Amino acid sequence: METAIIVAIAHNNAIGKDNGLLCHLPGDLKHFKAITQGHTVIMGRNTFFSLPKGALPKRRNIVLTFDDETFEGCETARSVDEALDLCKNDEKVFFIGGASIYHQTYPLVDKLYLTFVHHTFEADTFFPAIDFSLWEKTFSEHHPANEACPFSYTYENFTRIKPSNSL
Ligand SMILES: NC(=O)c1ccc[n+]([C@@H]2O[C@H](COP(=O)([O-])OP(=O)(O)OC[C@H]3O[C@@H](n4cnc5c(N)ncnc54)[C@H](OP(=O)(O)O)[C@@H]3O)[C@@H](O)[C@H]2O)c1
Repeated sequence: METAIIVAIAHNNAIGKDNGLLCHLPGDLKHFKAITQGHTVIMGRNTFFSLPKGALPKRRNIVLTFDDETFEGCETARSVDEALDLCKNDEKVFFIGGASIYHQTYPLVDKLYLTFVHHTFEADTFFPAIDFSLWEKTFSEHHPANEACPFSYTYENFTRIKPSNSL
């Protein structure tokens, strides 16, 4: 099983505000769908409730919660280890947020699928600091701002080359 994080990050590592995304990037939503469809997505409870239509179609959805609540179209897990155990036979697993899940899983995932949004937003949730010496960039694609999207952004994929606890 390969594990990955997928996230859109603005300046200052900002990723969200008021339990929502910082901006609407139609191209990035398509990119997210193309990368994650057919695979497993694992998310925190707040992120589940931020999804406009609930569970993401054509993906196995797992919601992390310490509570007994159930979520339509989703499995639940009470820890990251329990979630990973549920999908030990899956080919690819994506942690799709939010901040608390990214902070817990950044040290352990194999890959990062980042969308860097070149803009400063007011935010209340942030991605952890990335130590780029631990990662090798495998893909980069810039998208300039246009009429449909006022923000420019760059897709950058990374594969881990060193563990997070390496000196
Ligand atoms: N920019 C992006 O790409 C992106 C992507 C996703 C989300 N976001 C943003 O991130 C923000 C939400 O992040 P957040 O940190 O507030 O919430 P979150 O990580 O989505 O959810 C937090 C909740 O997940 C559960 N949880 C966390 N760790 C757990 C564990 N180890 N075991 C079991 N349950 C666990 C807890 O639920 P219970 O309280 O039920 O126990 C916790 O309250 C929103 O603004 C959202 O829009 C941004």
